[in-house]
Amino acid sequence: MGFNHEFHCEIATNVFPKKMGNTVTHFDYLKKFKRFSPLESSFAILGFFFLAALFIACFFYLDYTGFRSRGATLIGVHIAASSSSGSGSVSPLAGDATVQFLSQEGDNCDVFDGNWVWDETYPLYYSANCSFLDQGFRCSENGRPDTFYTKWRWQPKDCNLPRFDAREMLEKLRDKRLVFVGDSIGRNQWESLLCMLSSVVSNKSSVYEINGSPITKHTGFLAFKFEDFNCTIEYYRSPYLVVQGRPPPRAPEGVRMTLRVDHMDWISSQWRDADVLVLNAGHWWNYEKTLKMGCYFQVGEEVKMNMTTEDAFRRSIETVIDWIAKEVNMNRTYVLFRTYAPVHFRGGDWNSGGGCHSETLPDLGFLPLLSDVHFRTIFDVLSARMDKSEALNLDLLNVTQMSLRRKDGHASIYYLGPDRTASMQRQDCSHWCLPGVPDSWNEILYAFLLKREDFCERNTTEVAEAPL
Ligand SMILES: *[C@@H]1O[C@H](CO)[C@@H](O)[C@H](O)[C@H]1NC(C)=O
Ligand SMILES: *[C@@H]1O[C@H](CO)[C@@H](O)[C@H](O)[C@H]1NC(C)=O
Ligand SMILES: *[C@@H]1O[C@H](CO)[C@@H](O)[C@H](O)[C@H]1NC(C)=O
Ligand SMILES: *[C@@H]1O[C@H](CO)[C@@H](O)[C@H](O)[C@H]1NC(C)=O
Ligand SMILES: *[C@@H]1O[C@H](CO)[C@@H](O)[C@H](O)[C@H]1NC(C)=O
Ligand SMILES: *[C@@H]1O[C@H](CO)[C@@H](O)[C@H](O)[C@H]1NC(C)=O
Ligand SMILES: *[C@@H]1O[C@H](CO)[C@@H](O)[C@H](O)[C@H]1NC(C)=O
Repeated sequence: MGFNHEFHCEIATNVFPKKMGNTVTHFDYLKKFKRFSPLESSFAILGFFFLAALFIACFFYLDYTGFRSRGATLIGVHIAASSSSGSGSVSPLAGDATVQFLSQEGDNCDVFDGNWVWDETYPLYYSANCSFLDQGFRCSENGRPDTFYTKWRWQPKDCNLPRFDAREMLEKLRDKRLVFVGDSIGRNQWESLLCMLSSVVSNKSSVYEINGSPITKHTGFLAFKFEDFNCTIEYYRSPYLVVQGRPPPRAPEGVRMTLRVDHMDWISSQWRDADVLVLNAGHWWNYEKTLKMGCYFQVGEEVKMNMTTEDAFRRSIETVIDWIAKEVNMNRTYVLFRTYAPVHFRGGDWNSGGGCHSETLPDLGFLPLLSDVHFRTIFDVLSARMDKSEALNLDLLNVTQMSLRRKDGHASIYYLGPDRTASMQRQDCSHWCLPGVPDSWNEILYAFLLKREDFCERNTTEVAEAPL
């Protein structure tokens, strides 16, 4: 009931962070650390980082030599005072997060600005206990020897996220549809959420695919029902979000297919009325998957022979945003767009021997800003559209930068799919192991859902800022 109210709330939510171009620098962390350390000299600070690095290196070693539990305990004590409540624990690197994101003070907190902290209470589930996972994401079961990648919790710099509570989320989703639409990284996130939610359902047969389709079958559409909550968690495959199909008559030679960048995917009518809609796109908008295959871009009836993939991607995002503004009933549907999930190929690309299999730790220090075109495009289009004051009630899951730190999170050589197996030469440094990084995206999604409700229930006039 409360949730219903929320979906009819007219106040623009303010959870969308506004700090354009704000970057987390090494300096910031040094400053933060300094503020909270009794030791003031930079020597002491350097010493701390050295010790921290030493500890991490140490446990890395221990993990491989069978002293896992001892190493983990030591980390628990020295690196982060990990907690059971999740909200109380703050590592020295994480800043002072005494503000709760869900409280009023947390309204302006940019939850995507922060760092990964070690947390012994993670992961939130085990892949062996979740039947809703493609084999490809089951890294541990596929032989990945380290489990560090399951132990990192995302800690915003200026506030604490609520601890994920599957039961509460299911309660919020009662009688509702939560729909993910996008590419296989969207599927990655969808499966993560299925595992997170089903971990509290004891009767596993009360969670089922509505058409009885097995999860490993790539039908392009799968919907799992949580019977006790009368809610469905759905996934629609639509890697471009716009129409892909046969070229128009009299198309130039060499045009085998087109992407109609001005036309939303035909199946969009099936997700338009979802209660929560999480969109993503990006990974398929590259030369190899379009122009090189003879798939050109079409506007109206015309094939634009020299439109670049970058321009086409931008056009498609404009189409998506305009579709949301025009076709989606914002009183009913909460729309989120998840930003590009970075890949981590080193020493080559996905098809030329690039790899990430030896990465076992995240980047916790300084990171340069990602200049990926897929990352910028969504911001550019949104800013341009917002200037036209279309009060788009859209939130971004701005996960690009936080995920950029997680070079350790990919399936790499532990990907075993229905149609292929990763090899040293063909590693998977795009998809994420589960449990893993997409769980954190979903924890933020959970926080946004709660926040949105609180926000609407609060009687606000002072917070009328439009989201971007
Ligand atoms: C998204 O996050 C990045 C890095 O955390 C930040 O630089 C950027 O300003 C954010 N964008 C928006 C629109 O919040
Ligand atoms: C799976 O869940 C059961 C209890 O529900 C637990 O005892 C077991 O340890 C879990 N398996 C793994 C691999 O954690
Ligand atoms: C289940 O949810 C749907 C909306 O998704 C609603 O129409 C239907 O009445 C609900 N069923 C029950 C038994 O509450
Ligand atoms: C579990 O769920 C199934 C499917 O809804 C149902 O038929 C069965 O009775 C349930 N079992 C228990 C013990 O509740
Ligand atoms: C696109 O191609 C046409 C000829 O096919 C040419 O006249 C035009 O200048 C090109 N446009 C751009 C932006 O390259
Ligand atoms: C959304 O709700 C407002 C007020 O409750 C109403 O005026 C408006 O017509 C609704 N929009 C749609 C598309 O239902
Ligand atoms: C919100 O405040 C207005 C007056 O400022 C009041 O009339 C209204 O009842 C309040 N609504 C709620 C839900 O508290």
